[in-house]
Amino acid sequence: MAKSHVYRFIGMDDSSMKKILVTGGAGFIGSEVVRQFIRETPHSVVNVDKLTYSGNLESLKEVSGDPRYSFEHADICDGKALASIFERHEPDCVMHLAAESHVDRSISGPSEFIQTNVLGTYTLLEAARSYWQNLREEKKAQFRFHHISTDEVYGSLGENGLFTEETPYQPNSPYSASKASSDHLVRAWHHTYGLPVVTTNCSNNYGPYHFPEKLIPLIILNAVNGKPLPVYGRGENVRDWLYVEDHARALRLVLEKGKAGETYNIGGRCEKTNLEVVQTICAILDEVFPSRAPHASLISFVADRPGHDYRYAIDASKIERELGWLPEESFDSGIRKTVRWYLDNPEWVNHVTSGAYRIWIAEHYERGHS
Ligand code: NAD
Ligand code: DAU
Repeated sequence: MAKSHVYRFIGMDDSSMKKILVTGGAGFIGSEVVRQFIRETPHSVVNVDKLTYSGNLESLKEVSGDPRYSFEHADICDGKALASIFERHEPDCVMHLAAESHVDRSISGPSEFIQTNVLGTYTLLEAARSYWQNLREEKKAQFRFHHISTDEVYGSLGENGLFTEETPYQPNSPYSASKASSDHLVRAWHHTYGLPVVTTNCSNNYGPYHFPEKLIPLIILNAVNGKPLPVYGRGENVRDWLYVEDHARALRLVLEKGKAGETYNIGGRCEKTNLEVVQTICAILDEVFPSRAPHASLISFVADRPGHDYRYAIDASKIERELGWLPEESFDSGIRKTVRWYLDNPEWVNHVTSGAYRIWIAEHYERGHS
């Protein structure tokens, strides 16, 4: 690992090596956070993950053999398991990403969202608080509980305007309501108990290792397989897209330099209608996977999502101004990399879609591996 990489922007030396407890590190964004920490910093990571359908240890192959990485198979709703993890690992900070994350699933079955996103966050906050309270002063002062949240807590925008950190909460789906609840719990644990928290609210991520229920990977894989490309309504809804590596870099920066009690919006200043996104993917595939061109002929307008938020768009000026963060990837370069990644990684895709990795995980644990 090149030293220049280690010091790239977090500006710390080896004496500030930290142990970071990451929840949801086997998921899409969490696994990128874990990979970056191990690849680009001297820090250690403890990944706490229940391995739901969207958690996949295969996304962590590149770091799983590193002595600075360890895995704890646990549910964040299990207070006893969390207490034991805090006691054994003595982390310097927590990055909380574990969640049920898919809006459509929250509409057809909200229960798990309340369980994990609300009760799980509450249980984690309590485990973190009781651990933090007993830390010696220096470590206590430096401790951070970083809650990773979404721009969906702000509700829906019309044609104009951007979400700022001051935009009132108006969550519309069971998913966003559960995330808004968790944001409020985190804020209250700071206000009432003094737990040093930071919260980030980010726009739509895309990139490698994204579970193919979400728009971008679903469209890539359906198009490659000649299946219909489902576009909700007329495809006019707008999302603000950010490449997952840029999000993970922003999260690391907020963990290092964010002020306790503050919230930071993160977004790519990259608004696209869903139809534009789908057409862009089709055009790239026509070029790099011409056998099924024109892929756009597969586009199929289907029934809209109930309560579908019209537009999200983030004002990221606070994190840009105060912490000096800027995304490195444009949508053009990021979406090309993403399409390439899905074409180059059929094994990951097949395991995720066939459920074979879940059988592997079950066998793996039966044999007593971790
Ligand atoms: P994901 O669904 O890909 O991953 C979620 C991870 O959490 C999985 O590894 C899963 O196994 C784990 N998990 C779920 N329930 C758990 C539980 N009870 N205990 C322990 N682990 C559990 O989600 P993602 O897209 O990587 O999102 C990560 C976080 O970022 C979420 O909190 C989400 O709300 C937030 N977020 C996501 C986006 C996005 O565009 N994907 C944007 C902004 C914020
Ligand atoms: O804004 C941040 C949020 O972005 C995160 O908090 C969520 O965890 C994440 O899943 C994402 O939510 P969205 O609902 O915006 O993402 P999704 O990929 O499900 O949908 C993106 C848009 O595409 C949305 O307007 C719905 C539409 N869509 C989605 C699917 C799955 C379609 O038109 N067709 C589809 O098949």
